[in-house]
Amino acid sequence: MMPDDSSSGHALTAAMAWPGVIEAYRDFLPVTAATPVVTLQEGRTPLIPSKRLGARLGLRLFFKFEAANPTGSFKDRGMTVAVSKALEAGSRAVVCASTGNTAASAAAYAARASLPCVIVLPADGVAAGKLGQVVAHGARVVAVEAGFDAALAATRELAARAGLTLVNSVNPYRLEGQKTVAFEIVDALGRAPDLLVLPVGNGGNITACWRGFQEYRQAGRLTALPQMVGVQAEGAAPLVDGHPVTSPRTVATAIRIGRPASWEGAVEAARASGGRFVKVADDAILAARRELAAGEGLLVEPASAAALAGLQLLAAARPFSGEVAVCILTGHGLKDPPPLAPSLLPTVARTVEALSTVVERLLA
Ligand code: F0G
Repeated sequence: MMPDDSSSGHALTAAMAWPGVIEAYRDFLPVTAATPVVTLQEGRTPLIPSKRLGARLGLRLFFKFEAANPTGSFKDRGMTVAVSKALEAGSRAVVCASTGNTAASAAAYAARASLPCVIVLPADGVAAGKLGQVVAHGARVVAVEAGFDAALAATRELAARAGLTLVNSVNPYRLEGQKTVAFEIVDALGRAPDLLVLPVGNGGNITACWRGFQEYRQAGRLTALPQMVGVQAEGAAPLVDGHPVTSPRTVATAIRIGRPASWEGAVEAARASGGRFVKVADDAILAARRELAAGEGLLVEPASAAALAGLQLLAAARPFSGEVAVCILTGHGLKDPPPLAPSLLPTVARTVEALSTVVERLLA
C-alpha cells in the first residue's frame, strides 16, 4: 500500500518549506486567489557577511547571494510573478530578449508552467552556461545579428505581432517580483543598509529594488532608506555618461547594454536615494571577481563582481567609516566560469610519492 502522504515526514517538510517569493510576500504583489502560482521556491537567498573585503574598505559589508536562486540569478524573483500572470491570462507563449540570465529563468519557469517559451539572443556574447540552461529547459531559441538593445526592440515588436507575452523587465510583473530582494535584506538586517550596491544593465533591478525599500517604509518596516549605487562597465555606461551607447563593450556580457529600457526608473532610484552611478574598468571587474572567489568563497559572474569593483572605486575616492553596505551578487560564476590558462592546469602526479612532492610544493 502507498504510504499516506499527509501524515508522512515528507508532507510536514513540504508544508514548512520556504514557499517562494509570491507566497512569502503576497500582500505586496499583484496576485489574487485566482492566480496560479508558478514557483521554483526562489528567494530567501543568503545575506552573507564579508570576511575580509568589507573591513579593508571600512564597511560592514554583506553580500546578497542571488546566485543561490534556482536558475542561478536574481531573475527568478521577477519570473515567478511574470509567468504566473501569463498563465493566469491564458498566454499562448512567453518570449524575451536576453543577455542570458533572463532567458535561463524564463525557460525554466515556462517549463514548470508547461508554457512554450521563445528566447531571442544577441548573436555574440551570451555565456555558454546560460545558453546551455535555455536549451536544457526546452525553450525555442533564435539569435539575431545585433546586440541586446536591438534584440529587445525586435522582440517587443515580435511579441505584439505574434500575441506572445513579453517577460523582459518592461513587463511590470517582473519588477514587482524583483522588489522582494529589498524586503529580504530588511527582514534579515532589521533595517535597510546605508548603501545598496548593484550592477546595472537594463536598469530593471535598481528600479525594482528601490521600489521595494519604499514600499517597506510605507508599511512601517524600516525608517531610513538606503543610498542606491548602480555600477556599470566602462564600455557600457550610458547612465554614467548620460547618453545611450551605440556599441557597448565589456567582458561582463550580462550588462553589455547601451540603451537601458528602465532608464527613468534607474535614474530616479539613484537621484531620490541620494545615490549615484559609477563605471568600472573590465580589469577591475575581473580582479573583483577573483577577490570574491579567493577571499570570500563566492564565485560570481563578471557582471556581479562589478558591484564590488564599484564599491572599491568609491572607497579609493573617499574612505568609508563603518557604513552598512549590501552588494547584490546577481548571478552565479558557474554560468560563465573564469577561463583556465594552460599555466593553471593541475600538474599530473603518477605515484603517491610524486603526489606528496607536488602537494608540498603547492602548500609552500
Ligand atoms: N547582473 C546580472 C548577472 C544580469 O544578468 C543582469 C541583467 C544585471 C546584473 C543587470 O540587471 O538589467 O535589471 O539592470 N541581465 C539581463 C538579461 C539584461 O537579459 O539577463 P538590470
